[in-house]
Amino acid sequence: MSTDRFEEVRRRHARAEEGGGAERKQRQHAEGKLSARERVAQLLDEGTFEELDKLVRHRSQNFGMQNTVIDGDGFVTGHGLIHGRPVFVFAQDFTVFGGSLSESNAQKIVKVMDLAMKTGAPIIGLNDSGGARIQEGVASLAGYADIFLRNTLASGVVPQISAIMGPCAGGAVYSPALTDFVFMVEGTSHMFVTGPDVIKTVTHEDVTKEDLGGAVTHNSVSGVAHFQATNDEDCLRHIRELLTFLPQNNLDGVPRVATKDSDDRADKELDTLIPTESNKPYDIKDVIRHVVDERYFFEVAQHFAQNIVIGFARMSGETIGIVANQPAHLAGCLDINSSTKGARFVRFCDAFQIPILTFEDVPGFLPGATQEFGGIIRHGAKLLYAYAEATVPKITVITRKAYGGAYCVMGSKHLRTDVNFAYPTAEIAVMGPEGAVNILYKRELQTASNADEVRRTKIDEYRDQFANPFVAAERGYVDDVIEPHETRAKVIRALKLLANKTDTMPRKKHGNIPL
Ligand code: HXC
Repeated sequence: MSTDRFEEVRRRHARAEEGGGAERKQRQHAEGKLSARERVAQLLDEGTFEELDKLVRHRSQNFGMQNTVIDGDGFVTGHGLIHGRPVFVFAQDFTVFGGSLSESNAQKIVKVMDLAMKTGAPIIGLNDSGGARIQEGVASLAGYADIFLRNTLASGVVPQISAIMGPCAGGAVYSPALTDFVFMVEGTSHMFVTGPDVIKTVTHEDVTKEDLGGAVTHNSVSGVAHFQATNDEDCLRHIRELLTFLPQNNLDGVPRVATKDSDDRADKELDTLIPTESNKPYDIKDVIRHVVDERYFFEVAQHFAQNIVIGFARMSGETIGIVANQPAHLAGCLDINSSTKGARFVRFCDAFQIPILTFEDVPGFLPGATQEFGGIIRHGAKLLYAYAEATVPKITVITRKAYGGAYCVMGSKHLRTDVNFAYPTAEIAVMGPEGAVNILYKRELQTASNADEVRRTKIDEYRDQFANPFVAAERGYVDDVIEPHETRAKVIRALKLLANKTDTMPRKKHGNIPL
């Protein structure tokens, strides 16, 4: 009897591991995709995967489903280690009923999400699914809603990461959308609420699956995804790397990675990186790299709203979040997309106790009817709100322009940023010299015979008087004007000073961020 049981355990385990069978697995490989189990194995430290619910089966009695029962019901769930730290994982197996969500396998996801919350560990979902299991109807929809609830409750408690490694359509997209970081694989992953066929019927638009919801589209156009991987292996490697920057949960504190880079490293090259001409572009990522540990910057959402740069780096071995205007793209203007991109990142860092370092070079909000009609007022307010609300250590370095409302928004002293530096090249004023002179001397310029000369003189006067860091420094709005080569040492000292910072919000259920 007991030997039979042993045999049955082995048989059931083996059956679960087969998934949808060799032929379907081969099809998966032919499409350039790994199987769910291969993905989990590559994601986790070798030999650390502990599977849960391998023997769970679906309970459907409709459409002949009772005749096709596969142990595990197509989802691989459990926990393991990444760089020695625990994580929970679920992977949808497209070879079993198209990776579709059933009542049973939804409960498997719910179980690992609940455990992730109780134990304070990140949760990673590897998505490759045809959506709700059609044969199960509302039971499947209920499963999705159970997952959405947990995604929402876990938000800001444990990091949540989604990888889209196949189809992800219909309401199913909303679980990844609720998570902190979404990865997509080029060529094999697609996300859309309604697919090309439905769109054709309803709006008569012709659009391919790839153009509608491929990795490029969501990384560069919609901003739904934050990372674009070349294949499954690349995607899983990047998830592992992202986790090295993240705390396990909102109470854990940032991880430390030893560095040989000296805290006091003075980088003379920084002194010449910012052009003296205020309209000349430069790449803010060069500045970032010269400041952070080992010159290594892990950029997030690099293809979307490139006028703002966000990502993680380390200073003296500890994770920081970086937000920086990018003068090399749209002159670093703030627009709708860059505001929402920056705001969400600031809120992630704040939720997980990651200090925020801001590099500011911003000529203002992008002018235009499209921006106004699109609600730049509402969206710009998100970034303002996020910075004002954040209680983590905040440090701002104004490298060049800090004009108008954008000065206020980008981690200004007035939004309770702790330490504010400006470079000698900083221009902190209501607006740029040209615009200011055109308004202040409008009448004079209209009537003067030598209007160009008057304009030039007035611009020079304005630049001397206002477009510099000293007016703000004299009022204490910046704590010091520093030479660029001092940045690393100054920022690290500030971070150490702020390590035990506490700041609070007034008592409330939650704020009402302008969504
Ligand atoms: C049950 C499904 C399934 C589903 C696919 N399969 N989707 N089984 N429920 N939702 C099965 C197929 O019957 C097939 O089984 C196997 O998975 C592989 O599917 P194929 O169609 O052969 O694969 P492919 O050609 O690669 O096409 C993949 C696909 C397509 C694009 C995902 O299968 C598809 O369009 N599926 C339906 C997608 C959909 O409309 N889902 C519901 C979305 S609404 P066999 O046995 O032949 O191998 C939704 C609501 C969520 O999800 C709401 C949350 C609030």
